[in-house]
Amino acid sequence: MRPSREQAWETLTRYTTSEALLRHALAVEASVGAYARLYGEDEELWRATALLHDFDYEIHPTLDKHPQDGAPILREEGYPDELVDAVLSHAEHLAMPRDTPLKKVLFACDELSGFVHACGLVRPTGLDGLEPKSVNKKLKQPSFAAGVHRDEVYAGAELLELTLDEHIANVVAALQPIARELGLRTAEDSN
Ligand SMILES: [Fe+2]
Ligand SMILES: [Fe+2]
Repeated sequence: MRPSREQAWETLTRYTTSEALLRHALAVEASVGAYARLYGEDEELWRATALLHDFDYEIHPTLDKHPQDGAPILREEGYPDELVDAVLSHAEHLAMPRDTPLKKVLFACDELSGFVHACGLVRPTGLDGLEPKSVNKKLKQPSFAAGVHRDEVYAGAELLELTLDEHIANVVAALQPIARELGLRTAEDSN
């Protein structure tokens, strides 16, 4: 079965009701989708994977279950190994090799999408005009979005063989079109 984005959304929303988790899924989807386009990869599969990477977090909120106990559910629902393996590989504690472009991109976008989203939330214009430089600065403030693992953000950019600024710029650009869905203001609001 070749999974569609719509089907992944249907699975996700069957297991997830938290608005924060749904917004996280949408943010990671947008970033991963942008990289799929950039690299000429299968955007539909990549988007479905990103949407589902934390699909079981609400039912498995601890690392002894997430995401490993979610994987059999995805297999049962007919999702292909390529998607399920990538979902498993985003978890640091499982220490799986990130040996495909999809695995690398998913890992690289997971924490950074959340961090850029957090940066947008504290700005009157949201993501509009948000420069990599100021995201970088905020990464160095441990108290800002303290739950985001900085080491994973840096490792992600390295994995993609991009500078941190390039990776940040790509993620900011990917999230801008869905700013409203992420609950962010835009430059229009401040006019
Ligand atoms: Fe996760
Ligand atoms: Fe995540």
